[in-house]
Amino acid sequence: MSERLEDIAIKMVAEGKGILAADESTGTIKKRFDGIGVENTESNRRDYREMMFRTGDAMKNYVSGVILFDETIRQKAKDGTPLVDVIKAAGAVPGIKVDAGAQDLPGHPGEKITEGLDGLRGRLKEYHGLGARFAKWRAVITIGDDGRPSWNCIHANAHALARYAALCQEQMIVPIVEPEVLMDGPDAKHDIDRCYDVTVWTLATVFHELHVAKVALDGMVLKPNMIVPGQKSGTTASVEEVAEKTIKALKATVPPAVPGIAFLSGGQSDEEATAHLSAMNAMYDLPWKLTFSYGRALQAAALKAWGGKTENLKAGQSAFTDRARMNGLAATGAWKRDLEKQAA
Ligand code: 13P
Repeated sequence: MSERLEDIAIKMVAEGKGILAADESTGTIKKRFDGIGVENTESNRRDYREMMFRTGDAMKNYVSGVILFDETIRQKAKDGTPLVDVIKAAGAVPGIKVDAGAQDLPGHPGEKITEGLDGLRGRLKEYHGLGARFAKWRAVITIGDDGRPSWNCIHANAHALARYAALCQEQMIVPIVEPEVLMDGPDAKHDIDRCYDVTVWTLATVFHELHVAKVALDGMVLKPNMIVPGQKSGTTASVEEVAEKTIKALKATVPPAVPGIAFLSGGQSDEEATAHLSAMNAMYDLPWKLTFSYGRALQAAALKAWGGKTENLKAGQSAFTDRARMNGLAATGAWKRDLEKQAA
């Protein structure tokens, strides 16, 4: 594998491929397993993830990289092969979540700051040795009708993202920079235009901090939210409006030196996440690759079909392949609703 940051970043956003976010913390995967009545044990977590990583068709054709959690990057498949080697054998790049989670931001009720910078250089060195060639750090920004987000929340998170990204590049690891403006904030006035304003403010601040921290833009990948109405706003937006406003926000803030943008799904339905991505790629001429780095929107169907049972492995893999294929098509703008129906 090439070791230049630019080459790794380009591979992560290769044509028609995207990133599988399988880096749920032990607490988050518990919530997912609770939903299907599966016990949250180390071997169940291993079996579930091994099922996806061994889905040859999906992994080889539609998945460029996989974000892992600390436990998973050290885990072995049932036959003793390190899971990292299973991923590499499929031609995908292994990556690692390195943030230590979002904690309460002091003095700012209802806002969060992502922690994990202390000791990060040493952890990155170790993860590089374990095979990781990219990393992820997620910051969360909440919209409220009570002054949220605050400037301090946006600035502190942007600063932390930039310090993380600079450390990654020093250790020859491509940083995924993920500032997520949440869809599920409490504000009833959080419509699509409010999401647009807060996202532009956030991204402009993040790129300013990345510049100050001397982060090489050609050796990173941005993972933003799409511009969508808040879930509690009672409003909806068409696929075209989401595509138009998301592209407008990105063009206003993301320099063309960034090779690729890989969206999070953030609670959108599987079909919405796919339709939005496809519309953006079909409707616009863009300076960056635009693809997916989905967790829920890639995994929900597979998780349900598997249900924790060995006899359902094939069904789980087939559901995962369908979602990966639809999103792979969306990454080139070729997804159509009728293809979705054929797969169902
Ligand atoms: P979702 O696609 O489920 O939002 O997860 C992506 C992710 O990695 C969040 O950090």
